[in-house]
Amino acid sequence: MTTASIKRTVVVAFVAALFAACGPGSGRKDAAAVEPSARSEAPAAAILAPVPPMGFNTWNKFGCDVDETLIRQTADAMVETGMLDAGYRYLVIDDCWQVERGADGRIVADPKKFAGGMKALADYVHSKGLLFGLYTDIGPKTCAGRPASAGFFDIDAATYAEWGVDYIKVDWCNCDDLDAPAEYARFRDALRRTGRPIVLSICEWGRNDPWKWAKGVGQLWRTTADIGDSWESVVWIVGANSRHAAAAGPGGWNDPDMLEVGNGGMTFDEYKTHFSLWAIMAAPLMAGNDLRAMTDETRAILLNKEVIEVDQDPLGVQGDVVIERGYGGQVWMKPLADGSKAVAFVNYTGRELAQYVRWAQIGLPPGPARVRDLWAHRDMEPHADTGKRYDERFEVKVPAHGVVLVRIWPVSAGS
Ligand code: GLA
Repeated sequence: MTTASIKRTVVVAFVAALFAACGPGSGRKDAAAVEPSARSEAPAAAILAPVPPMGFNTWNKFGCDVDETLIRQTADAMVETGMLDAGYRYLVIDDCWQVERGADGRIVADPKKFAGGMKALADYVHSKGLLFGLYTDIGPKTCAGRPASAGFFDIDAATYAEWGVDYIKVDWCNCDDLDAPAEYARFRDALRRTGRPIVLSICEWGRNDPWKWAKGVGQLWRTTADIGDSWESVVWIVGANSRHAAAAGPGGWNDPDMLEVGNGGMTFDEYKTHFSLWAIMAAPLMAGNDLRAMTDETRAILLNKEVIEVDQDPLGVQGDVVIERGYGGQVWMKPLADGSKAVAFVNYTGRELAQYVRWAQIGLPPGPARVRDLWAHRDMEPHADTGKRYDERFEVKVPAHGVVLVRIWPVSAGS
């Protein structure tokens, strides 16, 4: 997507959200699919995140070490590296931007690290064609102990709207005795009262079964504890997030946490598996590495448009495991809007593993199919011995901790 078209999309979304909020009978078809209590919020939610949000978040790489220079340089990098064109639109500052609450009740950004103020920073981010995000917490303090939003939902929402915030991640530290569905709904209502469409990223780590209530409240909800930059962490999160596939869809997404691709703790193959599974699971794709200094391998992963297309497919189905092999292999399938299937062969073992799938196991009709390798960026050759296309099954060798991700289109005979 070009910068100009993103700007256009933002304007259209903004106008559409206002109309959805005010116009009688303006609900979209999706509204019928959500809980009655959430119905009035559904049109705006669907417009804000018809596909999983994509962007960058400071936490995984920078933790509390955030300032306006980092944000400006990251905004520049998102444009220069092609991240924005690939769909990464939200630039989100996580914890530690805030230092106190002023006498007027307004949250105060660190005056040393954000000397120019948040409004000017948001303006800069917007001038690049990007969208701007911040972080807070439902409780009195954030997870890093900074002042948070308890008792100040309306004043904080109004402040974000004034600054030009487009996305707010709302954490759950220091909230143990609170009612999560009620608190996040109150936060959503405060955002709504500002009249500005702001994505609400719910971050209560799956503690209160958000897959049961978060659609219509926020546009994405964490399903697990924090990711780490390790293969073990990815494997564990994938298992937990996959249990809630049925809850995801246009307007609301399970969030298995931000990406670790490029942070150094995993091999190239492991990062490819991490990214492929996030795409198959229709997960939000929030890069968490230093975008100013990416290796070619990191770029090849984060900027793989064919994999991103799987994640962003408008059908909005969270893919799931279709074959569980007892010896450490899995086959995942995500149906796509054009009738094709994305299929990931995952190898959890430490040695190469041969795997196969039959068309019947992934809902394809019998007959010839086109099979495209989304990491090699090429169609798989017809069988050498017969010259025939794949017509009933597909078999592949998967490297240790690796993935083979293909897209399979049925083709009519003779084509
Ligand atoms: C929690 C969240 C993380 C991050 C930190 C910030 O742990 O789950 O994603 O936002 O807080 O303190």
